Amino acid sequence: MNISVRIEQEKDYRIVEEITRAAFSYPERIERGGIGCPYEHWMVHELRKRDGIPALSLVAEMDEMQLQGSQSGFGRRIVGHIICSKAEVRTIDNVIPVLNFGPLSVLPACQRKGIGKALIRNMIAKASEQGYGAILFFGRPEYYPQFGFKEASAWQITDSNGYHYPAFMGMELVPGYLSCAKGGKYYQSNIYDDDLNRDKVRDFEKLYFASDC
Ligand SMILES: CC(C)(COP(=O)(O)OP(=O)(O)OC[C@H]1O[C@@H](n2cnc3c(N)ncnc32)[C@H](O)[C@@H]1OP(=O)(O)O)[C@@H](O)C(=O)NCCC(=O)NCCS
Repeated sequence: MNISVRIEQEKDYRIVEEITRAAFSYPERIERGGIGCPYEHWMVHELRKRDGIPALSLVAEMDEMQLQGSQSGFGRRIVGHIICSKAEVRTIDNVIPVLNFGPLSVLPACQRKGIGKALIRNMIAKASEQGYGAILFFGRPEYYPQFGFKEASAWQITDSNGYHYPAFMGMELVPGYLSCAKGGKYYQSNIYDDDLNRDKVRDFEKLYFASDC
């Protein structure tokens, strides 16, 4: 498929947000979201300003020619994106920095062609090279274990409310890194807090995507 992955640049911002919005516009997500249109594109927009890690905001590209229905072009086109952000595990006497990731988005017409896989593998490799100790995140439990992610309960870490469940997963990049996080609670950027951000998301949607909403 000739998929390549590179660091996102400022010129990519709009197309990345459009892809993210399209990827999360599937019916179950709209029903579950309850805050109007999907809001993951807003998260990407805001994460670039706070808590996001530019060196771990990655785009996947493919040859234009390989895209279904492509009318023209011999260039490369962005078809997917992943972004990492700062997060931490708090125990009674420790704060352990970890990496969070998401949203992860692939253009609907290009899904199931290995693009998500390329983005995740690349992100894990780059995060390891950059010295991060572990990744913790919330995501689809049917998708992520193939990359080596395990339920966070393996390290006895809960979410900030004290719960664990299959969608809360993680991976150590440095073996043993999470051993001192045992019994801790996980905190990620408040970008991910639906209730807190509801109005801002609606305003953003009106301002930037009103024509096709
Ligand atoms: C989930 C998503 C990122 C996967 O990306 P993708 O490029 O479609 O997936 P890939 O082609 O890399 O899939 C790799 C493998 O996972 C499997 N897979 C893909 N999506 C899956 C899903 N939703 N559930 C279970 N398995 C899945 C594929 O069958 C493939 O297996 P194979 O290599 O044996 O064929 C993409 O479908 C997407 O953007 N979905 C909408 C947004 C979303 O849900 N993001 C993730 C939120 S946690």
